[in-house]
Amino acid sequence: MDLGIRGKQGIVCGASQGLGLACARALAREGVNLTLIARSPEPLEAAVDSLRQLGAAKIRAVVGDITTDEGRDAVLGACPEPDILINNAGGPPPGDFRDWRQKEWFDAVNSNMYSAIDMIRRTLDGMAERGFGRIVNITSTAVKSPMPGLGLSNGARAGLSGWVAGVAREKVGDNVTINNLLPGLFATDRGRGYLAYRAAQEGVSADVYEQQFYASSPAGRMGDPDEFGATCAFLCSAMSGYMSGQNILLDGGVYQGTY
Ligand SMILES: NC(=O)c1ccc[n+]([C@@H]2O[C@H](COP(=O)([O-])OP(=O)(O)OC[C@H]3O[C@@H](n4cnc5c(N)ncnc54)[C@H](OP(=O)(O)O)[C@@H]3O)[C@@H](O)[C@H]2O)c1
Repeated sequence: MDLGIRGKQGIVCGASQGLGLACARALAREGVNLTLIARSPEPLEAAVDSLRQLGAAKIRAVVGDITTDEGRDAVLGACPEPDILINNAGGPPPGDFRDWRQKEWFDAVNSNMYSAIDMIRRTLDGMAERGFGRIVNITSTAVKSPMPGLGLSNGARAGLSGWVAGVAREKVGDNVTINNLLPGLFATDRGRGYLAYRAAQEGVSADVYEQQFYASSPAGRMGDPDEFGATCAFLCSAMSGYMSGQNILLDGGVYQGTY
């Protein structure tokens, strides 16, 4: 299926590995010109090389921190008029809320709420003027069902979801949509790190905890990042203009709610 976005300009944040890179892969296959940002240069260069091999049109890489004004200035300097924006940054560390003070909370809100809000603030009206825009925020299953030990993520991402619910209606009439993609457990560094954290909390080995997780998950496995990327590409497609303000859960059926 041709998603109708060949030649569009896309920004993917947190794009050197994991879910961000998977989104970039899926968009590259559709012929989107990409600008990627991540903090460490070497994995970012490797990501660019891997995307070029997929035949992606034009790819630019920006080494920077998307949770800072400087990082956001740099990526928007490289791609001032994006048609597609994938908001993503690293998740906050796990822990116990008794240990978190203002700094930990402000960092989490900055990374997983404000950074995406500021990227949307800087791009939404331009997309509307040009008559096309697709914004996807990578959030978490934590928005629907809190994850043990991830209180900072549960809180900050719920804040972003609440704000997006309002703004996603503003420009859909100009063909600009904003949706959230909610990963359950995916086979990335972050996903494996969370399994290891939970195993330590439960006092079992990572292998044992992984098997326990699989037994409790209807899909019986972790998600493949390319499954996530494919869903992201559809949300960025020309066909998805009637869908905005949605929270799309990709968790292999773990969340048990009807809605
Ligand atoms: N994987 C899962 O199972 C899962 C589940 C629920 C939620 N999530 C959330 O989904 C998001 C992506 O997860 P992932 O599994 O893809 O993580 P990952 O494998 O750790 O990859 C994170 C990517 O983001 C980049 N990054 C991190 N902080 C950044 C920053 N401040 N500025 C620019 N780039 C940054 C990293 O590169 P650098 O470090 O070089 O910057 C890397 O490319 C995270 O917020 C995570 O918490 C993941």
